[in-house]
Amino acid sequence: MSIDVLFPSYLYRSQFANPRKFNRELAREIAALRDMDDYGRQWSETHYVGGYSSYSSMCNLHQTSPNFAELEERLAPHVQRFIKKLNWNLMGRRVQMTTCWVNLMAQGTYHTLHVHPSSVLSGVYYVDVPKGSSPLKIEDPRMSQLMAAPPRKRTAPANQQNYLLIDAKPGQFLLFESWMRHEVPPHRAKQPRLSVSFNYEWL
Ligand SMILES: [Fe+2]
Repeated sequence: MSIDVLFPSYLYRSQFANPRKFNRELAREIAALRDMDDYGRQWSETHYVGGYSSYSSMCNLHQTSPNFAELEERLAPHVQRFIKKLNWNLMGRRVQMTTCWVNLMAQGTYHTLHVHPSSVLSGVYYVDVPKGSSPLKIEDPRMSQLMAAPPRKRTAPANQQNYLLIDAKPGQFLLFESWMRHEVPPHRAKQPRLSVSFNYEWL
């Protein structure tokens, strides 16, 4: 008798050593971006209520800011490691960061379930995560197929639950395939939660 695990989904988690100085720089720049980005603030009023995201206005920060270029550089070896684990055949093409933007969640700000279309890898880097911040919530990618399947036991291992909650920590980053649906539930802390999101395309 044998029971195989089929079609696994991978989440890459890691963190930078001693991230405080780097995070201070990023936090300072996120505040400056918010102050200068009139269009982004206006967009956020309806699409990122209470908070600020540069998704609609400045989403190539890795190409326009040395701090975010450094983030891309620091992530690069991890992306290569993840691609190796995924056993992707890139057929002579490369996986490159194409978008990079910042997110400031205020108390009550949330981000509903979504995927990142046209990208192959997506991820997030946590800059500032006050106590009580929202986790990232990842959904079982087979959710739409489950139909009459019974729910999981509370005691089931985390990788067999329908949702996985990942607590954010400053200096930590996550990488996942862009089709993986995820959301950020309402932020409960009074202090803002700061993160940087990014996408990679196969070019
Ligand atoms: Fe996302």
